[in-house]
Amino acid sequence: MVIKKNLSLQSYNTFGLSAKAANLVHIHSEAQLKATLKLSYQPIFILGGGSNMLLTKDVDGLVLKNEISGIKVLRKNKETVTLKVGGGENWHRFVLWCIKKGYGGIENLSLIPGTVGASPIQNIGAYGVELKDVFTKLDATEIATGKKQTFTKADCNFGYRESVFKKKLKGQYFITTVYFQLTHRNHQLNMDYGAIKKILEERKVKRPTIKAISDAVIYIRSTKLPDPAELGNSGSFFKNPEITRQQFEKLQKRFPTIVFYDLPNNQVKIPAGWLIEQCGWKGKRVGNTGAHAKQALVLVNYGAATGQEIEALAYKIIDSVKKRFGIILTPEVNII
Ligand code: EPU
Repeated sequence: MVIKKNLSLQSYNTFGLSAKAANLVHIHSEAQLKATLKLSYQPIFILGGGSNMLLTKDVDGLVLKNEISGIKVLRKNKETVTLKVGGGENWHRFVLWCIKKGYGGIENLSLIPGTVGASPIQNIGAYGVELKDVFTKLDATEIATGKKQTFTKADCNFGYRESVFKKKLKGQYFITTVYFQLTHRNHQLNMDYGAIKKILEERKVKRPTIKAISDAVIYIRSTKLPDPAELGNSGSFFKNPEITRQQFEKLQKRFPTIVFYDLPNNQVKIPAGWLIEQCGWKGKRVGNTGAHAKQALVLVNYGAATGQEIEALAYKIIDSVKKRFGIILTPEVNII
């Protein structure tokens, strides 16, 4: 096993930040993971695709880079197929593999950066679909003991961009394998999201397929969201806040054009991108960082930004949204 020392993490995080890892090892199997944990490095930091984190400092101890690969069909029933996927697999490559095989369920999640192993941690979601809709269980290794454990869907306690792995069990488990249930016929296509419908109409797609939806999502994402290979970013930096209906009604009187989505339990979700744009941040550049010109929810690195600089911008944005709307934005990315 090769442990790299004093390594720049610039190519390991989609913000392109140049923090360093004291030690880093690529993990290719459960057995290698177990052996590595016996070396007793402290602390242990688990890295997937590095697409949901902001590195504000160097990382001590040992970084474990998940490279566990493999996609296997476990079962095929009348309509469904069960897949076992290595946590180190690239998420979008997995989506494309499924589309090629005719397996439906994750086409709306096309082009999301990151790894399969990281996908349950924040219950990735886009265009009306969330990971939890297709997830069945996962295998993980406990960092402290090296023991393997299975987590069912209920164990994961999924919420909007949330799971037990972002809360109670944060940093405690290395996700080695994720199991999915997809469809191989009678796909439940999800086209509720307006932009998808619009593109399919424009493209004159009469009978939408999982491939047509994936292509539409790829198109929408690539026109709105910056490609991390060209402009460092971590997707949505903040979560879309949820407020009470009472608070919303007061706000709507003051800001009649406010964009919102009704939720159950008397809650209303407001797109953080709208709030940030209203505060004048959209397309604004502050030193080496800024809020993206096409989607204000995405903070970008113009090349030479540090993690602290991006964090400082995030706090300025939080402050101005709080002052104007009385809403406190919370980051979706992990700040390290
Ligand atoms: N909006 C603005 N200004 C902006 C951005 C958005 O006014 O600069 C308003 C628009 O009215 C728009 C609405 O916000 O109609 C919603 O925007 P969009 O459809 O782009 O979605 P979002 O709520 O900003 C969420 C996810 C994205 C996901 C899209 C599509 C979160 C935090 N973000 O963004 O996820 O791709 O919906 O489902 O929930 C990610 O998590 O990294 C991510 C990119």
